[in-house]
Amino acid sequence: MTSSRISRIIATGSYLPERVMLNADLEAMVETTDAWIQERTGIKQRHIIADDQVTSDLAVAAAKQAIARAGLTPNDIDLVLVATTTPDKIFPSTATIVQRELGITNSCPAFDLQAVCTGFVYALSVADQFIKTGMVKRTLVIGAESLSRITNWSDRSNCILWGDGAGAVILEAVAQQDGQPVKSGIIATHIHADGQYEQLLHVPSGPSRVAQTDDVAERTMTMKGNEVFKVAVNTLSRIATETLAKNQIDASELDWLVPHQANLRIIKATGKKLGLDDSQVVVTVDQHGNTSSASIPLALDQAITDGRIRRGQLMLLEAFGGGFTWGSALIRY
Ligand code: COA
Repeated sequence: MTSSRISRIIATGSYLPERVMLNADLEAMVETTDAWIQERTGIKQRHIIADDQVTSDLAVAAAKQAIARAGLTPNDIDLVLVATTTPDKIFPSTATIVQRELGITNSCPAFDLQAVCTGFVYALSVADQFIKTGMVKRTLVIGAESLSRITNWSDRSNCILWGDGAGAVILEAVAQQDGQPVKSGIIATHIHADGQYEQLLHVPSGPSRVAQTDDVAERTMTMKGNEVFKVAVNTLSRIATETLAKNQIDASELDWLVPHQANLRIIKATGKKLGLDDSQVVVTVDQHGNTSSASIPLALDQAITDGRIRRGQLMLLEAFGGGFTWGSALIRY
């Protein structure tokens, strides 16, 4: 019998900045109420990065935890991938800074990946390909964001949504007998993009596109929230059902949905479409807000460390973000 290589999650880690911003704090900043925010988004609070921290600090803290839990040393890692929309600098990549700060001195490749809120699923998919081809054995995949730094704190329909944080997973190559069911590992990833939606969710300025005015809106996220909402609900339902169909898995076989944490109403709609009970859907948006590429690894780490997600269980990860980008990962933990 022939065998091939698949990727197995051997450890997770996470980090949330100390400062918690409650909805009540936002009431003092913009015209909003705790009740409105909770009803429309499900968000109760979010964590905000300290003045002296940058994205790589959050990423390093999450990665250290994952490496320690895996019982590895930093030089056991042979690829560092950081999904982020809020890198420390234009260059070098946040991944190379993380590599240095972790003390990885084995010259392994390190790079950032930008797919906004789908960033972690994209990074997982890329890492999985590197492992499957035999190019690397262990990959550190991090989603880390300091979205508060690109938030327009006077735009009430926008600033209520975002939070800061980081989550990390370590993938390791394991042998898989061809034709046999996967006992523990990534079964499949699916990633997509459609650039025609740029204007619905974006930051207008960037390294090569100079801000047209001094307006803060040029340097922060702008979004047509209700239009994004509609496309997100439809796209996420579609990717979830497509992923299951392509892998010949029935929704009733799923133990968990670990969705990108953008809005509780979007999350519930996807869970319902799959016929899952609310208790099978991992929700952290109430505590973290939308942390973009960090949201799935944060949710995953929470549900694994509190004992909900157990070895051998089947989970579907799905995400949607600016671009638009969207994707899924079907994993037997
Ligand atoms: N507090 C109180 N009222 C607010 C408000 C706030 N924070 N933000 C907007 N409103 C008001 C609007 O001004 C509008 O008032 P009007 O009817 O008098 O004009 C009303 O609430 C409805 O606005 P709308 O934008 O249609 O609200 P909504 O129900 O769509 O909720 C979002 C807004 C942003 C919460 C929602 O659209 C959303 O979550 N979208 C998806 C965003 C997302 O997840 N993006 C990331 C994808 S990765």
